[in-house]
Amino acid sequence: MKILPFVILLIFLNESIAQVKYKISKELVAEKAMVVSAHPLASEAGSEILKKGGNAVDAMVAVHFALAVVYPKAGNIGGGGFMVFRDKNGNASTLDFREKAPLEANRNMYLDKSGNAIDSLSRFGHLAVGVPGSVAGMYEAHKKHGQLPWSELIAPAIKLAENGFNITTIEAAALNENKLKFIQINNHENAFVKKSSWKAGQKLQQKDLATVLRRIQTEGNDGFYKGKTAELIVEDMKKGGGILSLQDLEKYQAKWRTPIVFDYKKNYKIITMPPPSSGGIVLAMLMQMVEDQPLEQMGFHSAAAVHLMAEVERRAYSDRAQHLGDSDFYPVPIEAMLDKSYAKSRMSDFNAQKATASKQIKAGKPNKTSEQTTHYSIVDADGNAVSVTTTLNGNYGSSVIVKGAGIILNNEMDDFSAKPGSPNMFGLLGAEANAIQPEKRMLSSMTPTIVEKDGKLLMVVGTPGGATIITSVFQVIMNVIEFRLTLQEAVQNTRFHHQWLPDQIYHEKNCFDAATAKKLKEMGHTLKERGQIGQVEAILVRPDGKLEGAADKRGDDSASGF
Ligand code: GLY
Repeated sequence: MKILPFVILLIFLNESIAQVKYKISKELVAEKAMVVSAHPLASEAGSEILKKGGNAVDAMVAVHFALAVVYPKAGNIGGGGFMVFRDKNGNASTLDFREKAPLEANRNMYLDKSGNAIDSLSRFGHLAVGVPGSVAGMYEAHKKHGQLPWSELIAPAIKLAENGFNITTIEAAALNENKLKFIQINNHENAFVKKSSWKAGQKLQQKDLATVLRRIQTEGNDGFYKGKTAELIVEDMKKGGGILSLQDLEKYQAKWRTPIVFDYKKNYKIITMPPPSSGGIVLAMLMQMVEDQPLEQMGFHSAAAVHLMAEVERRAYSDRAQHLGDSDFYPVPIEAMLDKSYAKSRMSDFNAQKATASKQIKAGKPNKTSEQTTHYSIVDADGNAVSVTTTLNGNYGSSVIVKGAGIILNNEMDDFSAKPGSPNMFGLLGAEANAIQPEKRMLSSMTPTIVEKDGKLLMVVGTPGGATIITSVFQVIMNVIEFRLTLQEAVQNTRFHHQWLPDQIYHEKNCFDAATAKKLKEMGHTLKERGQIGQVEAILVRPDGKLEGAADKRGDDSASGF
């Protein structure tokens, strides 16, 4: 077992923010309530709301808007996401605030004359932008479940945007890396580009964004989707060759959807996100395919366990490519794909000794990532739980910064299949199910998830990571309930990923020891080391009722609670 000593991790992790002096908690135990997010200031904003008597949904609104300010590469009001909610009585619901294709979009909009996909069009600039859903999502969730006044929840974000905050080493590097793109795409002064390079500890102030946030604070949804903010967005679109219109913004609505709920073994129930995310269905397939296998005995990161997990991932991701898309537009065979007998039938050709070549795996017949998304997990003092994954898609989305509004817009259109069979930025393939249509939502991998044990809340979990989101959530859950790791170990340990095509096991550095790597290669697997996989934010309810939070070492992530 390769479980790194946590103390060493903490020292390494805090290096990036040493000059900023934020209070960072990678590991936290709290009596009552907790927020774990990608930025300490956002976690604090949520925690303060919980202390004031706000519930998990109130805290969600505060965290979401704060992240849009302090974590601009993925936190957003110009993007979208999904919420999984479980109230203190166990009632579950999900809210879809995913972006959608503008009314003027069409299936060939990213193809050249020969019918080949022009990747840059769906990835950068104004044409890559889907209709943002985040503000509608926050507003809708608050309307249904919020307790504290809306205006109070936006206030922390306004303060951070207005007064500025000190950026971390990681944020400074990301802003510097994106500078050229910002300049190429935006022909105006903005908060994110300055003559010299960004350095850790410098102040990022977003006055235009503060003005927009104030509009949202006083006018709610209309402060974004109508009036001055909408006009600024559409003006920018027209100048940059985009197609998003005032009508698109006015028509946008977040949607409540029936959660994907499935049992795992006798004691566990998993509550997760249905289409237009592929996350819930694929997670269900993965867990159902391993359910009868002796994972615990195989052992954490053993060749047998990694082989099994890679083989189920290979099969589930081939189904994802073929069958999944926005179920409002395409008949996704949800029930059939969730059927345990279907998952088992997909394992009929599984060989415990030998890798199955992906070219032999075809999608079954049941009766596409930079990876800068972000996740936050919240549990309030009453036991209500919120799991939200939200995104601009790539780092800083399309790199479009709306002039006069300071809003960074998503490049979520790249999550459609621009051309069936042509991979998106995450190398993910898609088919007709995920072809572009006006007002359709593009397929996502976001997997905000809540786990119950014996009918009680056990875990709130999720991660960014494009194609690797689902397999990261799968691993963290398996690490806790099968491999019996602590939450810290489960989150901080190295991860691996298989997505059918390309036919290889991607893994983080030092994921496998030499003997395990050798065995996997002998079984026929190709191993490919890559950078970080996922950035998990998780909360576990301990047997004593206390909340244990784990904020991923891979970023500036931090837990806050009381
Ligand atoms: N944009 C990444 C995802 O939705 O999966």
